[in-house]
Amino acid sequence: MPGFELFGDAERKEVNDVLENGVLMRYGFDGMRNGHWKARQLEQELENKLEVKHAQLVSSGTAAVSIALASAGIGAGDEVIMPVFTFVASFEAIMMLGAIPVLVDIDDTLTLDPKAVKEAITKKTKAVMPVHMCGSMANLDALQTICREQNIILIEDSSQATGATYKGKPLGSIGDLGCLSLDYVKIITCGEGGAVLTNNETYYKHSDHFSDHGHDHIGTDRGAETHPFLGYNFRISELNAAVGLAQLRRLDEFVAIQKKNYTVLRKALSAIPEITFRTVPEGGEESYSFLSFFLPDLETSRKVIQAFKDAGVDGCWNYYDNNWHYIRKWEHLKALKTLYPLSAEVKEGLKYLQTKTFVQSDHYIGRNISCLIKLSWTEAEVKERAKKMFEIISKTLN
Ligand SMILES: Cc1ncc(COP(=O)(O)O)c(C=O)c1O
Repeated sequence: MPGFELFGDAERKEVNDVLENGVLMRYGFDGMRNGHWKARQLEQELENKLEVKHAQLVSSGTAAVSIALASAGIGAGDEVIMPVFTFVASFEAIMMLGAIPVLVDIDDTLTLDPKAVKEAITKKTKAVMPVHMCGSMANLDALQTICREQNIILIEDSSQATGATYKGKPLGSIGDLGCLSLDYVKIITCGEGGAVLTNNETYYKHSDHFSDHGHDHIGTDRGAETHPFLGYNFRISELNAAVGLAQLRRLDEFVAIQKKNYTVLRKALSAIPEITFRTVPEGGEESYSFLSFFLPDLETSRKVIQAFKDAGVDGCWNYYDNNWHYIRKWEHLKALKTLYPLSAEVKEGLKYLQTKTFVQSDHYIGRNISCLIKLSWTEAEVKERAKKMFEIISKTLN
């Protein structure tokens, strides 16, 4: 996801504002700032753009997930339902709080299957966390219904789908809490950064305090602030926030370019009868940061990926054998390889990973290819790529 591709004067200007007054920290130093509060400003602009009451910027998307969970009071021994296709950050963030990741199947949306979620709920389930992978989304209506019926928190991880909407609402603004990554390879970037989104005043206050050592942020004397509860340091710096500010203002431009390029590729591949595209839930509008489609079987997908590589068609993945995004290769999680002892509850809670199989997810991930959509392609490059992709897939299928 290509925020890093279009990067220039606007970002430089915001960063220079910070460098000129020298206040790199987001809190305090009021007298020296010359009115520059980049993190605060980015939070306000995120709130407006993503139509949510509160945005709390933090140091990373992984931190945002942990903070969102902690803000809702989720911790030791609690179960959090998450998909088997995501990024390793999902289980890392859950386990950091001593909670238990419960991994469940995805469906043809490439995100959480609501039926599998229902089956995985136990007395210990405190949250369901859909991860809106590769620019599209989970069936949020179905998940919201399940969560409301069972009194469970819904936390959206929309790190890979900023700019996408569901029934007219920006992703991340629909669940009880939303999480964004703003790292270097997301659609818009701060270099490193993340955000917790919520309409809930209490969760917002918790996120604000928890991400800064429990500081209550009341008054103008940081040293005199009290600590209603324990926190940590997950602050973002002003420099990172400054970059994000310029990038957020270009989000619509980025999505429009992606949509144009995506449409050319999709049109070309639509002419191949063996190809089906990932399902986008009704009422959903993608961010167009990836084009994801299914081939008839794993063997064909592997052959196509290899042929793409050989022909210089970059940025396409079949995640079946991927180390970061799919459960099959998460050996360190399955073997519980941590630097420090885990609680007995977490060890017990993760035993299922030794035996549980995910046949339905294997079926979708094995046949899936997801291709990154770049912003920097010229019209001729997109057309050339579409032609090459069509030819390679057609040849492999014959
Ligand atoms: C879906 C998802 N969630 C969370 C993260 C973690 O974000 P960060 O790298 O900012 O910690 C990522 C990063 O790739 C991601 O793709």
